[in-house]
Amino acid sequence: MGKIAVGIAVVCGVAVAAAAAVVVHRRMKKSGKWVKVMEIVKDFEEKCATPVSRLKQVSDAMIVEMHAGLASEGGSKLKMLISYVDNLPTGREKGLFYALDLGGTNFRVLRLQLGGRGRGILNQQFVEVSIPPNLMTGTSNALFDFIVAELAKFVSQESSDYEPNPGRPRELGFTFSFPVMQTSIASGILLKWTKGFSINDAVGRDVVAELTEAMERRGLDMRVSALVNDTVGTLAGARFVNNDAVAAVILGTGSNAAYVERANAIPKWHGPLPRSGEMVINMEWGNFKSAHLPLSEYDLEMDAESLNPGEQIYEKVLSGMYLGEIVRRVLCRMAQEAAFFGDTVPPKLKVPFALGTPAISAMHQDTSPDLKVVANRFKELFEISNTSLQMRKVIVQICNIVATRGARLAAAGILSILRKMGRDTIKDAEKQRMVVGMDGGLYEHYTKYRKCLEKCLNELLGEEVSETIELQLSTDGSGIGAAILAASHSRYHARDD
Ligand code: BGC
Repeated sequence: MGKIAVGIAVVCGVAVAAAAAVVVHRRMKKSGKWVKVMEIVKDFEEKCATPVSRLKQVSDAMIVEMHAGLASEGGSKLKMLISYVDNLPTGREKGLFYALDLGGTNFRVLRLQLGGRGRGILNQQFVEVSIPPNLMTGTSNALFDFIVAELAKFVSQESSDYEPNPGRPRELGFTFSFPVMQTSIASGILLKWTKGFSINDAVGRDVVAELTEAMERRGLDMRVSALVNDTVGTLAGARFVNNDAVAAVILGTGSNAAYVERANAIPKWHGPLPRSGEMVINMEWGNFKSAHLPLSEYDLEMDAESLNPGEQIYEKVLSGMYLGEIVRRVLCRMAQEAAFFGDTVPPKLKVPFALGTPAISAMHQDTSPDLKVVANRFKELFEISNTSLQMRKVIVQICNIVATRGARLAAAGILSILRKMGRDTIKDAEKQRMVVGMDGGLYEHYTKYRKCLEKCLNELLGEEVSETIELQLSTDGSGIGAAILAASHSRYHARDD
């Protein structure tokens, strides 16, 4: 075909699709199905509503659970896990340390050269490797052997400058972002998997022992000096650069928070009181659940069909793994009950998790007047090319409802931490600053979600208090923080005193 003919064919193709969209839209209007669409949207919006009064109830309920989780092991859905980190980094940590950051579909291996007093990070390198999906539901040995093979490769490719002194193993901070009951700073039992992982034989086992055994099988001479949750790593990384950092929140595939608690406010801690008088608590807030959470039938159905029904309910309404899936479920209902996409439900739309959060973020933030991004995504993902502008507006509206609810509920979670720490009011004339380290792709890349969260937190705290709180993005803080904690818990001298 010549260029002109191709041009005409393309123009005709576009014209046909546009005409088809108009026809679908007109037919829907005539048959009253558009009314049904509007009903579904309105009902969903009402069920997801998060007025300030409700967010305050959510926060009250979370604080009650925080106290219960600190009082006794198993006392609450909020596990409030003791991290054994009672001293956060000071900035004086020094030397060469490694980190292994495992918590989602990718893991990272990092190498960090810490400069000592005030010199920060002199040098850092990393590799990121994606985990084959079959290993996320296989056996513990298969997963750890795969990870260690990559770790060994990373080490074998480094220059001889990084060779440790004879008799001294390389030291590693292990960020393991699942609920773990720690038994020391470098050991802990996996309580359960989340975020699509399900490896039964690892549950109830010490994850550091599993990793160490895999390193021995491979002949890799490394020692785990610190086992940390990603929230704790992020907090450590944030404190390394900013003394005011007292909490950290992850909004990524999953969600969670950690904060500095007074050791004498942890009744379930029976060990000696740390000299610092403080202990970092890994809340595992993803598992929070309350009758005040605004849940719709789509959330309940998604939960019932998930790998972990009844668990991680708060995480399932606000984190990256689930937001796209909720939107897909609403669209499926509109396709079934209101023929939103025509007479049949497009087969690809029926596939669970076929709509990821990056796609809803892109569509929600589509600024083109005819919502081109939405049209293209629907074509690419679902082979749906007959969307009218009105239909695309409705799709954006659903994305907005889901993201707004998630972001506002996350703000209510942060409010709870601030209230628990007594930082939600200004006590002394001098305004004490406070930094919350933030990490995770959802927070980093979904700008509308982030802005909505920040705006809502201001709304909840009021202007004066808001000015004292800073949410600070700390990209890759979880791995960096683990390497720094490996330094502060090194057997060898790794500080500038
Ligand atoms: C895990 C947490 C983790 C969070 C963020 C949750 O699913 O239970 O341990 O911190 O995801 O990665």
